[in-house]
Amino acid sequence: MEVIVARDYDEMSKIAADMVKKEIIKKPDIVLGLATGSTPKGMYRELIRYYDEGKLDFSSVITFNLDEYIGLDKEHPSSYHYFMNEVFFNHINIKLENTYVPDGKAKNLDEYCKRYDELIEKKGGIDLQILGVGENGHIGFNEPDERLNMGTSVVELTRSTIEVNSRFFKSIEEVPKTAITMGINSIMRAKKIILMANGKRKAPVIKEMINGTKLTTQLPVSLLMLHHDFTVIVDEAAYNG
Ligand code: GLP
Repeated sequence: MEVIVARDYDEMSKIAADMVKKEIIKKPDIVLGLATGSTPKGMYRELIRYYDEGKLDFSSVITFNLDEYIGLDKEHPSSYHYFMNEVFFNHINIKLENTYVPDGKAKNLDEYCKRYDELIEKKGGIDLQILGVGENGHIGFNEPDERLNMGTSVVELTRSTIEVNSRFFKSIEEVPKTAITMGINSIMRAKKIILMANGKRKAPVIKEMINGTKLTTQLPVSLLMLHHDFTVIVDEAAYNG
């Protein structure tokens, strides 16, 4: 694991965007694993800027998103699919048919999840996975638990995640209670992983991940310590608290 401590959110975003840029230039048909939430927004903004300046071409890039709320379609303003289109895809020259976000309205969910992992493999596997982390240590929507799913699965959200994420909904009642998320193995199979965290609310989980001496499914992010190419980019607030 490599830890990079940035001054602030903007520097964290720029460092992450520069790493993604380097990988896209190296492999124009790269398969990216993408995350939603407030954390990666600045990185997307920087990548859009590189595109506007003619420094990046997304025409052959393929993306797979980590997760989606069950019951929300891609037109729902709180869905992750909508977020990705608004925040990133609509501003670059990526082909929308090359952008995969789990379908929150899929009919046969278990079958659908299995096919999502198969599709990732069919496209050659994820070259670079971008991750944020929940305040409770979740990655994607893999919530702290006694056992975690290996592959893409349907999961129940914890009360704390529902509360934290209610800021993206009109009311807490509107937040779905279940989601589809890539599983731990779907994430760990990525050739390279970058995790970003900013702000002091993330400091406890970052500290436990970096300095902890035990891996535990009760802190899903700690499992990333097993990955052979894992970079953590944090701002000073997330690093020092
Ligand atoms: C959400 C998402 C995660 C995200 C995390 C952190 O619930 N499911 O993929 O990384 O929580 O979100 P934020 O970046 O807004 O703090």
